[in-house]
Amino acid sequence: MITPIKGFSKLTKAKKIDWIATNYTDNPEESIRILKQYWNADAALQKLHDEFIENTLTNHYLPFGIAPNFLINKKLYAIPMVIEESSVVAAASKSAKFWLSRGGFKTSIIGTQKNGQVHFIFKGDFKKLQEFFISIKSKLIQDVQPITKNMVKRGGGIVDVELKDKTEKLKNYYQLHCTFETLDAMGANFINSCLEQFAKTLTAEAQHFASFSKEERHVEVVMSILSNHVPNCTVRAEVSCPVETLNEDPSLKPLEFAEKMVQAVAIAKAEPYRAVTHNKGIMNGVDAVVLATGNDFRAVEAAVHAYAAKDGTYSSLTNAHISEGIFTFWIELPLALGTVGGLTKLHPLVKLALEILQKPSAPQLMQIVAVAGLAQNFAALRSLVTTGIQEGHMKMHLLNILNQLGATESEKAVLINYFKHETATHSAVVDAFNGLRNKP
Ligand code: MEV
Repeated sequence: MITPIKGFSKLTKAKKIDWIATNYTDNPEESIRILKQYWNADAALQKLHDEFIENTLTNHYLPFGIAPNFLINKKLYAIPMVIEESSVVAAASKSAKFWLSRGGFKTSIIGTQKNGQVHFIFKGDFKKLQEFFISIKSKLIQDVQPITKNMVKRGGGIVDVELKDKTEKLKNYYQLHCTFETLDAMGANFINSCLEQFAKTLTAEAQHFASFSKEERHVEVVMSILSNHVPNCTVRAEVSCPVETLNEDPSLKPLEFAEKMVQAVAIAKAEPYRAVTHNKGIMNGVDAVVLATGNDFRAVEAAVHAYAAKDGTYSSLTNAHISEGIFTFWIELPLALGTVGGLTKLHPLVKLALEILQKPSAPQLMQIVAVAGLAQNFAALRSLVTTGIQEGHMKMHLLNILNQLGATESEKAVLINYFKHETATHSAVVDAFNGLRNKP
C-alpha cells in the first residue's frame, strides 16, 4: 500500500526516482532506466534543466523542427517549431512555400498593452472612494517607481491606473484596473510586483483618509494579479493574392477553391463546434513557436480562446473574403510574448530559436507567431476543402505507426514508398506491414 510521503522535495534526485519507481510503477528497475536514459550527458546542462522547476526527475523531449521559407514583410524567416504532432511542421512549410511566390505574409501590431488588477472590497460610499482614489493616484505611481524605473528608461512602464466599480457584478467589489507597457518582456513579474505595491499603498492610504468613516478606512484587498486576457496586445497577419493565382490544386478551379475557403471560414465563424477545431489547428502553429521560444503557452492559450469568444459566442480567429478578384485571408490574435527574461537567456535551445528568428523584439515575435497560426489554418483548410485531412495527415503519421510496429529501416523504406500511392489508414498500414513480413 502506498502511504503519503513527507519531505519529498528534500530528497536527492536519485531517491526521488527510486521512490516514484518503487511505489508507482510495475517494473521499478525498467522505470529507473528510462528516467535516467533521458538525462543529458553534460552534467551542468542537466543541472540547469533540473532547476527550471521543482522535483525534476528527468527531461521530457519534444521534437524541435524548422519550417523554412516564410516571407514576412519582405524578410525571409525559418521558423522553429516544437510540437509532438506529425504533419504540423510539414503543413507550415507547405503554406510558407505557397505564399512565398504570392507576396508572402503581411503583418502589423495593433496594440501592446497589458492589464492587471488589484481586486478589493470596499463597504462604503463610492463617491468618497472616487475622491480618495483621485487623491492617491500620484502616490500610487510614485510608490512603484523603484520597480518601474528601468522599464520607464526603456520607454515602458505604467500607462494608467483606473478605479472600477464592479458592484453590479458583485457586492462591494471594486478594482484598480492598471494598464502596462512591458516592451520586450512578457512582463508577468513586473506587472505583479507593481500591483502588489499598488495594493499596499491603497490599504495604507485608506487608513488615514479624512473623509472615510472607520469602516471605509478598512479597504480589503482580496488579490493583486495580472490578467492573461490581453485584448489590447494584439497582432494582425494577412495573405492575399488574385483568385486566379490560387491554382495549386488540380481538383478545383481557383475561384471554386477560393469560395470554398471563404465558406470554410464562414462555417467556423458561425458554428462553435467547428470553430474550436478550426482554432485548435491555428494553435498547432502558434503553440509550436511559443514553445520553441520559451514563452508561456498556457497564458497564450487562455488569452486566445477568451478573444475568440469576445463577441459572446466562440468563433473563428481567422477571416477570409474575396473582393474584386482578390482572395484575402487574415488573423487577429492576442499574444503576450517575451523575448527577454524568463527562459530566453537560460535555455540554450530557446536562445538558439530566437537567434534563428533574427533576435526579434516581442512585437516582432508576435508577428511571426501570428503568421505561424495563419499558415497552419490555411494548410488545414486547403486540405479540408480539397483532398480531406487524412490523406496528408496519415502520410505524415505513417512513420509513427511503422515505429510502433517495430519496422526495420528497410521495411520502412518499402512501406513509405508503397503508401505514396495508397491511403495510409492505421489498419492498411498494419496489413501492409504484416504482408511484408508474411504474417496472416
Ligand atoms: C489537427 O491537429 C488540426 C485540424 O483538425 C484543424 C482543422 O480542422 O482546421 C486539421
